[in-house]
Amino acid sequence: MSKAPKAALTLKPVEDLNRMEAQFELAQLAKEIAHHRALYYQKDDPEITDAAFDALMQRNEAIEKRFPKLKLADSPTDKVGAEPAQGFAKVPHLVPMLSLDNAFAAEDVTDFVERIRRFLGLPAETPVPLAAEPKIDGLSANLLYEDGVFVRGATRGDGAVGEDITTNLKHVAGIPLRMKDGNHPARVEIRGEVYMSKAGFLKLNATREAAGEAVFANPRNAAAGSLRQLDSSITKSRPLQFFAYAFGAVEGLKKRPDSQHGLNDQLLAWGFAVNPRRQVTHDLNETLAFYNAIQDERAALDYDIDGVVYKVDRVDWQERLGFIGRAPRWAIAHKFPAEQANTILKAITIQVGRTGVLTPVAELEPVNVGGVMVGRATLHNEDEIARKDIRVGDRVVVQRAGDVIPQVVSVIDADRKGRSAPYVFPETCPVCGSHVVREEGEVAKRCTGGLICPAQAVERLRHFVSRMAFDIDGLGGKHIEAFFADGLITSPADLFRLADKREDLLKREGWGELSVDNLLRAIDARRKISLERFIYALGIPQIGEETAKLLARHYLTLDAWREAMLAAKDPDSAAYVDFATIARVGPSIRADLIDFFDEPHNRAVVDDLAGFVTVQPFVPPKVGDSKVAGKTVVFTGSLEKMTRNEAKARAESLGAKVAGSVSKKTDYLIAGADAGSKATKAAELGVVVLSEQEWLDLIGG
Ligand code: IVH
Repeated sequence: MSKAPKAALTLKPVEDLNRMEAQFELAQLAKEIAHHRALYYQKDDPEITDAAFDALMQRNEAIEKRFPKLKLADSPTDKVGAEPAQGFAKVPHLVPMLSLDNAFAAEDVTDFVERIRRFLGLPAETPVPLAAEPKIDGLSANLLYEDGVFVRGATRGDGAVGEDITTNLKHVAGIPLRMKDGNHPARVEIRGEVYMSKAGFLKLNATREAAGEAVFANPRNAAAGSLRQLDSSITKSRPLQFFAYAFGAVEGLKKRPDSQHGLNDQLLAWGFAVNPRRQVTHDLNETLAFYNAIQDERAALDYDIDGVVYKVDRVDWQERLGFIGRAPRWAIAHKFPAEQANTILKAITIQVGRTGVLTPVAELEPVNVGGVMVGRATLHNEDEIARKDIRVGDRVVVQRAGDVIPQVVSVIDADRKGRSAPYVFPETCPVCGSHVVREEGEVAKRCTGGLICPAQAVERLRHFVSRMAFDIDGLGGKHIEAFFADGLITSPADLFRLADKREDLLKREGWGELSVDNLLRAIDARRKISLERFIYALGIPQIGEETAKLLARHYLTLDAWREAMLAAKDPDSAAYVDFATIARVGPSIRADLIDFFDEPHNRAVVDDLAGFVTVQPFVPPKVGDSKVAGKTVVFTGSLEKMTRNEAKARAESLGAKVAGSVSKKTDYLIAGADAGSKATKAAELGVVVLSEQEWLDLIGG
């Protein structure tokens, strides 16, 4: 249902509707609103802007007001949000499902290959073969096979845990229920993309339209909507397909492919559909030629793609390269250029984020950009508006690329007469009225309202419940806003106090026993939380998932971390010196953390929360009998068998902490040739110094 709010198009004024028309439209609106609510609350993936949604609601209400007798028994006016997505069991993936880094320009691809060479210590001329294939714009799925039999299939979820959609996946073409070919592993996870063909999508929409049902905006949404059906007979009726492209966990596979293309051949031999447009490239020219060829074929392909994926075509190199954050070092998505369209800029509004940053937002006449209706786009910041000289009333170029937020690129016919005055950025926060500041060297203006600014508070709460933080099912942004506005939740710990307010919740419009109890259960399920999620959930500036993990890995428990952050305020303290040894946590991040704990109200938030939840100490990744798990190591000097980066990554994957400098907490200093001052310092502190070979012996080669 891509369409812009129907009310904004050519609908009759409500006063002119007759009974029949009103009845018909109310039925349509109910479906449409239910659809958008489900997208917003259950999938966190709205297709239309809040304003467009409000327009639908307003039109519905206006019609109901004029024809009260026609109001439906389950009118959208009487509902809040949507039932939380339920019915699918959560299943952990055996090996996490990752995402891919993006490349846009040819230089990004060169950088990717050079990074690989540097990491592996390969000379500049060494060819790095890449297995290239189209990047399917669908939904990734993880299929578990035991002794060649499909036993479980799941969505990607948060990468670690997905939803069990086994029954539905059995109806997808390209997924064999039993593997062909004799070379079965005991257990294997097969990863790939579920998609709907363009032809299948058009046919499905035509049928739905004829039946008066809401149509899907694009094949991806249609595939998503079809796969997440509790009633699998619906999934069965939808034309879904699958392309396999990777393994997750593999156990007991006799002839394991040693190349990516060999892996694809094996997938094909087992009976999976594998993309036929795949090729191994040996240099940049060949790689870019493949990319260009696929781009030329894009429109003619019967499925949506949004780029090309390159994977290093040697499995041994893939293993050495490993992962950084949530993406492999050995693969990258080379995206196609953004899709553009032009439309009128109706207004500029300001959004206030979690850390007080004011972001200007373009409110647009909704326009179709590559298959998706766009009604809002980011204008980034004050300088960008000035640089592009964007003014209200202008015709502007809007673009969207992949999953990024649509943006306004430029103004069309900027020299014309009669333009409005240049946009003046507000000096006060549009939400709380506090003064706005712009720090030296920063492009962003920030609201100084801190705790008193409701916008910041709501955004912090939204962040707190988001998927990588406390991950509270069924508590969408709209609920947070409404609960905050009514004083039910003002700080994170209030969520855990909601159980005492069950009666108040039941009195709220649209909340029944079922939805209230589901929500309370979802909250209760989060009373145990890992330290890294807890740290991330606090929403401290600059502390994303990666940094939260580094901190958790270093400090292990909430108490140790809290205490260290307070003590580190004194730059001469041992706590600060230790803090500064954490690799990838630089001075500016350290300052933000120290500032956060310096504020009494922030400490109060942490302590209040700690009274409700058990924060589980960091558990080093499962690494069999690794002797270095939990140890702090420092590398120095030049290594012979592997590059420094590789050594660090390897140590981390075995559960060790890699620090940048030697301190009393260092367990091992691994000294390559020409080790300098660090070795001297280690000797002084009595830290164990290992040669590269001794280290390799310790970790098992
Ligand atoms: S390979 C270890 N190949 O794109 C990562 N991914 O934006 C393995 N995707 O999460 C991924 N087509 O869901 C790979 N041909 C392809 C793909 C593909 C689509 C998806 C995948 C991934 C996402 C990242």
